Amino acid sequence: VSSENQQILAASEWVVKLYHHLLRFTKDGKKGYQYLKDRGITDETIDAFQLGFAPEAKDFTASFLDKKGFHQQTLIKSGLLSQRDDNGVSDRFRGRVIFPIRNHLGKPIAFGGRTLTNQEPKYLNSPESELFQKGRMLYNFDLAKKHIRKQGEAILFEGYMDVISAYQAGVQHGVATLGTSLTETQARLLKRYVDTVIICYDADESGHDATYKAAGTLQKAGCSVKVANLTDNMDPDHYIAEFGGESFWNDVITSSLTFTSFYMRYLKKDFNLTLEGDRINYIEKVLEHLAMIDSAVEREYYLKELSNDYDISMESLTQQIQFHRQQKR
Ligand code: CTP
Ligand code: MN
Ligand code: MN
Ligand code: MN
Ligand code: MN
Repeated sequence: VSSENQQILAASEWVVKLYHHLLRFTKDGKKGYQYLKDRGITDETIDAFQLGFAPEAKDFTASFLDKKGFHQQTLIKSGLLSQRDDNGVSDRFRGRVIFPIRNHLGKPIAFGGRTLTNQEPKYLNSPESELFQKGRMLYNFDLAKKHIRKQGEAILFEGYMDVISAYQAGVQHGVATLGTSLTETQARLLKRYVDTVIICYDADESGHDATYKAAGTLQKAGCSVKVANLTDNMDPDHYIAEFGGESFWNDVITSSLTFTSFYMRYLKKDFNLTLEGDRINYIEKVLEHLAMIDSAVEREYYLKELSNDYDISMESLTQQIQFHRQQKR
């Protein structure tokens, strides 16, 4: 680590403490504290994740770090300050709840800041740098890894609040990609710790698309994939707030679908199943996927489902899947 990066790490550590203190104990941070309380986050969780609040003032952080002797150029590079047009600098994070982003050793390397109003962007993040490369790390990996090993599974979420709410509910083997799509590097990182990953993205259209893509990336890295049983546009944090942690564990995580079940549902979006032609194309497409499954028992399990749902004999389905399996060789 270069000496400038050392400085950035040191400044980040100060800022974590500063924002956290403001949120927990001061009038200036009250808005942020109340916001988290309203979302059901406890003091204990706030402390565990070192959540904080960045005040509205435009040079609060700048002057704090200046007094500590940090160079302005270093702080601009860290993303804590932004260069303004008039040659001045100002704090990047203002009037936002702060989520410190830690590397795998637990050191803060970046921040996410959530608006309390409905300002755009909803989350403002530190820019990428030598120290912070979104696609090479996973949010909360440092705290989650021992739980991941113990559970023999990892849960992959989209966002900060999903990880944090799950953690608070006792589901502590969760990490997040922070909104971007899962990279091969992240998949390989997970594979070093576990064989099975449960994808628990938001149950909306973009979440489903991202689930399909992440599943491919994980499988390529050698992971086996399950998909959490979340429906109706829910996101995990929202689900926990509404139905509680126990239901989240039992009805969403423990009730995860196999990737094949997810895929059979997901694929339907491309077809109008009230049309005969589409129905046949859908079934063909599912069969192509099932043909790649090595276990005969597993293949038969899904073939039965197709046979029942679409009233096609097992003989025809079996014949067709054999055809695809031969093509594959
Ligand atoms: N994200 C981001 N910038 C945005 C929107 C989202 O970096 N403008 C990232 C954040 O890490 C966020 C994740 O993508 O946590 C998932 O996005 P989304 O589902 O839209 O947000 P939630 O995490 O559900 O946010 P909240 O519950 O606070 O509304
Ligand atoms: Mn989302
Ligand atoms: Mn969908
Ligand atoms: Mn969400
Ligand atoms: Mn949410």
